[in-house]
Order: sequence, then structure tokens, then C-alpha cells
Amino acid sequence: MALLFFLILAICTRPGLLESSSSVRLVSGPHHCEGRVEVKRDGQWGTVCDDEWDLNDVAVVCRELGCGAATGTPSGEIYKPLAEEMQPILISEVKCNGTEDTLAQCGQEDDVYDCSHNEDAGASCEIPETVRLVGGPGRCVGRVEVKHRDQWGTVCQAGWNLSAAKVVCQQLGCGKAILTRTYCDKVSHGQGPIWLSQVSCTGQELTVLGCHSEPWGKNNCTHEEDTWVHCEDPFELKLEGGDNHCSGRLVVRHKGTWGSVCDDGWGEKENQVVCRQLGCGKPLSLSPKARKPFGRGVGHIWLDDVHCSGREQSLEKCQHRFWGHHDCTHKEDVAVICSAQDSGFPGA
Ligand SMILES: *[C@@H]1O[C@H](CO)[C@@H](O)[C@H](O)[C@H]1NC(C)=O
Ligand SMILES: *[C@@H]1O[C@H](CO)[C@@H](O)[C@H](O)[C@H]1NC(C)=O
Ligand SMILES: *[C@@H]1O[C@H](CO)[C@@H](O)[C@H](O)[C@H]1NC(C)=O
Repeated sequence: MALLFFLILAICTRPGLLESSSSVRLVSGPHHCEGRVEVKRDGQWGTVCDDEWDLNDVAVVCRELGCGAATGTPSGEIYKPLAEEMQPILISEVKCNGTEDTLAQCGQEDDVYDCSHNEDAGASCEIPETVRLVGGPGRCVGRVEVKHRDQWGTVCQAGWNLSAAKVVCQQLGCGKAILTRTYCDKVSHGQGPIWLSQVSCTGQELTVLGCHSEPWGKNNCTHEEDTWVHCEDPFELKLEGGDNHCSGRLVVRHKGTWGSVCDDGWGEKENQVVCRQLGCGKPLSLSPKARKPFGRGVGHIWLDDVHCSGREQSLEKCQHRFWGHHDCTHKEDVAVICSAQDSGFPGA
């Protein structure tokens, strides 16, 4: 009886335990709600073959993991394991109708003889809205706020360190944690409840709610102690080699590294998104000859087969092949010239 009581207590007070009791996980993706699907059998983790894999199956994985809505089935080689990881392939032909609570409740086969890691099932779900960064210049910098009982509140700096910041950045799909601090100016302070204090994370937790902390709202902190976090922004873009920032060869930054964009499928709508995102007005048409002066890039070719509707606020939101997957050379690097170039442009 005492043991049972302890078990219940442990499960109720430590969300971390609940997370690890799940028999499905997402690996190698940008955050814990996207990646290669792995299931646990007899204590061993292994992958799922993507035969018959679809968005209904992903919806069940997202639900089981406490993530948001299903957004994609990134399967195949995208998140496949490295050869040395020696992952077994455990199941195939998963058939969920989308309403199940766990993947184990769906139809599936143990017979995987004709499957390889080039057919690994993947899942992409929205990140659940339990943490956000506010007041900063983008979604990856700002005051840490957590949601409790449908209300957002701040986190006290007491006990907080870079390991906790790392968990927040990962959870938001924002790359590495660079800095965590408090600010003296009032503008940076939050309002409303101060939900958490003494948050202590090892850095391995999937979400900040999996870390230890004082109970919700139990602290003597003031908003002057609100925690701020700077994460590395995972995506940026700029034009290089032109006379100003509104013309040149397009480079994008992904996971801290700059690389170019291939012109397969690239056109007017894609130019529009780039010029708008840079605050550079409208695109001017550009003949293949005209982009020669901007030269060729070196290093990564990050994006290929980019397709925008023209209304996206960021090029990142357009469809494209998975990062780094392309069949291009730097001869095909995209260059863009926008109308809002000011001084010094020849012929302007
Ligand atoms: C979906 O599958 C579950 C579990 O097998 C079953 O109980 C449910 O009736 C099914 N729903 C639909 C709409 O087919
Ligand atoms: C942050 O604090 C936790 C718990 O006290 C500790 O395990 C971790 O190593 C600390 N991280 C850093 C970067 O100091
Ligand atoms: C807050 O301050 C009061 C009075 O100083 C103290 O009794 C209490 O333990 C403090 N609470 C926390 C959570 O630190």
C-alpha cells in the first residue's frame, strides 16, 4: 500500500516520469515534437517502416506525446539513424484511424523483412503551447512565460541557469541557448502571475515543465526577477555580393551556418517573399546574365525546390526539400534584386 502511494505521488509530482513512460518517441528532429518515430519493444527502441504511414498515424503519435496538431509525415531518409546506431526496424503497416490514444492501439505488423532505414516513418507535430518567449525581437528571444490554468505567467530567475534555458530553446525549436539573464528596465518585465521559481533542469528534459521547481505560484519573487532567454535564431536570410542589402546572392542561415539556395523551381513569388522579408520592397526581374556579378557561393546548399504562395512572411514557411537535400551546384545559386535599393546601384 505504501509503495502504491509513493508510486502515485511520484507520477503526479514529476512530469518527467510520465514522459519517459511513453513507448513512442521522436528522435533527431529539431524539437521533441518532430523526428523519426521510434517505438519500444522488450526494452529496446527501434524504428517504424513507412509503408502505409500517413497523417492519421502521425496524429496518434502527436497525441500520445502530448504535442500539438499533426503537420507532416517526414519519412524516408530525412531523420534516419546513423549506421553506427544499429537501430532495429520493429514494426510496419501501421494503420490508425486517427482517434486512438496510443500507437499501440493501431493495427500494425511485426513483419519488416523488406524494409530499410531509407523508409523510416517520421512525424511532425506542432509544439504544444506551454512555453513562449515574449517581448524580444523574435520568437526565439524574450521573457520566459509558461502557461498554467490557461493563463500565461513569468518565471523567476532564482535557481534558473543555462541548462534550463537550453531546455526552453530546444522545446521551441530555436537551436542553442546563448544567454539567460534578467533586465532592469520596466518594459522588459511581465505582468500577472509569477508561475515558477527555483526551476532546476539537467538539460536533458524534453520540456521545461519536466524540470523540478517550486509549486505553481509559490514564491516571493517580483517581476524584476523575470527570466529572459536568448536562443540562437535558427533561420535568417540576406543578400550577398550586391551593392546594398537589397540585392545579391541569397544566403540563408540554418542551425548557425550560412548556405545558398538552388534556383530549381524558383520564380517571382519566391522573390516577393524574400524582398518583403528583408524590408526591400518589390522584386525586379533578373535575367540569368544579370546575376553573374554576384558570384557563386561556397559551402552548404541549404534549400532546393522552394515553392511559395507569395504571401508567406518568411521564406522558411514556404515549401522546400528537407534542409541540405538538393541536386544542385553553386552555379544554380539564387540571386535577387529588390526595388528598394537605395544608393549606388548601377542603373538605379
Ligand atoms: C478507430 O479505432 C478505434 C480503435 O480501434 C475504434 O474504437 C474506433 O471505433 C475507430 N473509429 C472509427 C471512426 O473508425
Ligand atoms: C543548472 O542547475 C542544475 C541543477 O541544479 C544542474 O544539474 C546543472 O548542471 C546546472 N547547469 C549549469 C550549466 O550550470
Ligand atoms: C516567502 O517569504 C515568507 C516571509 O519571509 C516566508 O515565510 C516564506 O517561506 C517565503 N516563501 C517562499 C516560497 O520562499
